[in-house]
Amino acid sequence: VTWLTWLCCIVYFDSFNLAALLVSLSDPNIITAESGQNVTLPCRASNNNNIIILEWSRADLGTQHVVVYRDGQFAPDDQHPSFKDRVDLQDRQMKDGDVSLILNNVTTADSGTYECRVLMGEIHSWELNIIYLRVVAPGE
Ligand SMILES: *[C@@H]1O[C@H](CO)[C@@H](O)[C@H](O)[C@H]1NC(C)=O
Ligand SMILES: *[C@@H]1O[C@H](CO)[C@@H](O)[C@H](O)[C@H]1NC(C)=O
Repeated sequence: VTWLTWLCCIVYFDSFNLAALLVSLSDPNIITAESGQNVTLPCRASNNNNIIILEWSRADLGTQHVVVYRDGQFAPDDQHPSFKDRVDLQDRQMKDGDVSLILNNVTTADSGTYECRVLMGEIHSWELNIIYLRVVAPGE
């Protein structure tokens, strides 16, 4: 009985790992790009008509941001210098809640965990979406 229980456990964990692997392979939030490319980091807010603040940041940047968009324009708040003049919104109207970010001319140093935070008006709560970007040298 003990032996059989162990076998069940092993099969159970293996199928669990396989499922996790399949989820990560099909995860649209994991993006691989080659250096020099322009990359779109997708993010969609659940509600399009009252986005007060949009903040894109990267986990390792501390208090600095990739970009902050507030009151319909880019805010100069603490943008990390490596993103200066290199980012734009896919749709500045943020139509249908599309707050995807375009990052131009990526380098391997841009690899990391990106966070898209949106402050919604009526409900006054933040929404968070996480994107993993991996930049490799061309042809790798
Ligand atoms: C990246 O975007 C810039 C500005 O929109 C454009 O000039 C350039 O050709 C694009 N580069 C690539 C590799 O698509
Ligand atoms: C892209 O970045 C590389 C180095 O990071 C730079 O040499 C090159 O001029 C940049 N290209 C554009 C179109 O800005």
